[in-house]
Amino acid sequence: MEALKGIRILDMTHVQAGPTCTQLLAWLGADVIKLEPPQGDATRGQLRDVPNADSLYFTMLNCNKRSIVVNMKSAEGKTVFVELLKKSDIVMENFGPGVLDRLGFSWEKIHRLNPRVVMGSIKGFGSSGPYADFKAYENVAQAMGGAMSTTGVPEGPPFVTGAQIGDTGTGLHLAIGLLAALQQRERTGAGQYVEVAMMDGVMNLCRVKFRDHQRLTRGALTEYSVPTYPGMGEVPRAGNDSGGGQLGNAIHCKPHGPNDWLYVVVQEAVWEGLANRIGGEALAKDPRFAKIAERRKNQNEMWNIITDFAKNYTKREFMAILNPLDVPCGPIMSTEDLANDEHVRGRNMWVELDHPQRGKWWNVGMPIKLSDSPADIQRSPLLGEHTDEVLKSVLGYDDAKIASLKQAGAFSAPPKKAA
Ligand SMILES: CC(C)(COP(=O)(O)OP(=O)(O)OC[C@H]1O[C@@H](n2cnc3c(N)ncnc32)[C@H](O)[C@@H]1OP(=O)(O)O)[C@@H](O)C(=O)NCCC(=O)NCCS
Repeated sequence: MEALKGIRILDMTHVQAGPTCTQLLAWLGADVIKLEPPQGDATRGQLRDVPNADSLYFTMLNCNKRSIVVNMKSAEGKTVFVELLKKSDIVMENFGPGVLDRLGFSWEKIHRLNPRVVMGSIKGFGSSGPYADFKAYENVAQAMGGAMSTTGVPEGPPFVTGAQIGDTGTGLHLAIGLLAALQQRERTGAGQYVEVAMMDGVMNLCRVKFRDHQRLTRGALTEYSVPTYPGMGEVPRAGNDSGGGQLGNAIHCKPHGPNDWLYVVVQEAVWEGLANRIGGEALAKDPRFAKIAERRKNQNEMWNIITDFAKNYTKREFMAILNPLDVPCGPIMSTEDLANDEHVRGRNMWVELDHPQRGKWWNVGMPIKLSDSPADIQRSPLLGEHTDEVLKSVLGYDDAKIASLKQAGAFSAPPKKAA
């Protein structure tokens, strides 16, 4: 937790895209102060599995942060925000378009208030262009960034991926931008505005599909198992095709349940060994599959032969057959498989935590391993758990000042007026 020690982040992010970024930065050692409205980040109450407890949606994305409640719609709350801003290295938000301006804090104003602060901002579509005014959630970004049109099978509907490439993917992009801006600030002393649009992030993650988009102007995509032709325009959905230079596919195994599949990449270098093992010399010498060009043309027959062999083995047994042959392959792991996997546990990627409201629960661990700065994963904060602590330790407020700000409504929603 030493890498970002001394970096303070004023985190106004909510839902998933922003919090996933600030959780990562907290695991890298930053002091993340999550500034929440009086009702808290909406995800605290969404998809609840334990009554009156912060949901897993919230707890899994907000570890190692401190929570302070500030009502940014009150004059006193705005003053607290400004004072925290002046003590921060990074300020972050992923509000809907125009929200921060309506609260009175444009980037220009924030920059004036603290010229050293780096500002991180996530929007569905960025701050410019015809889509700039639209809100976005994960699947809207997947739809508009090219992921959905290229995921699934040609005759079926477009599909979203389970991996949250629109939200968490954008959070990762933002983390990279923020670290670069901090590095530049080391040289110049000046902060800057770092923006990631979810649509842009998804396009970046679909880069190889735009490679294929341009290849289609010159010829068919011979590695695709589905029909393609020059001038086709749109890159088609191609099921479980590998998407790379080597052929790959998911092979159904015994006992043929929903996750009894092994993903197999038929690398050029391993074909002979693989063919000998599953079909003997006859297959190894079969001219239909002799070289990758022939295998591309006849790949559906090749997958049928491999599937026929695999039907007698479980995914793990089939993997054990392929590993000694150096065939790149991996079982389709269910969430249950992963939660119980020795490798996953050994790498601290499924971490048990305790929580005052919900008791024991598990979080996915920190995927970035720094040798001198390992993450120490701690539970997410309760709403406003650190309000007084932050006001005292960061801003030096005393009890009397905190009490008078509380009285003035800096940390709470105004009482509802009688109708
Ligand atoms: C995610 C999203 C669709 C949610 O929309 P939403 O629930 O309507 O929330 P918004 O961000 O638009 O608005 C938040 C409101 O809370 C208010 N608010 C936020 N923090 C506050 C605080 N500390 N004190 C008082 N009010 C606060 C804002 O002022 C705003 O109120 P307004 O609408 O009166 O201006 C929207 O925030 C968005 O498009 N964000 C950018 C893209 C994104 O990150 N999406 C991925 C989410 S995982």
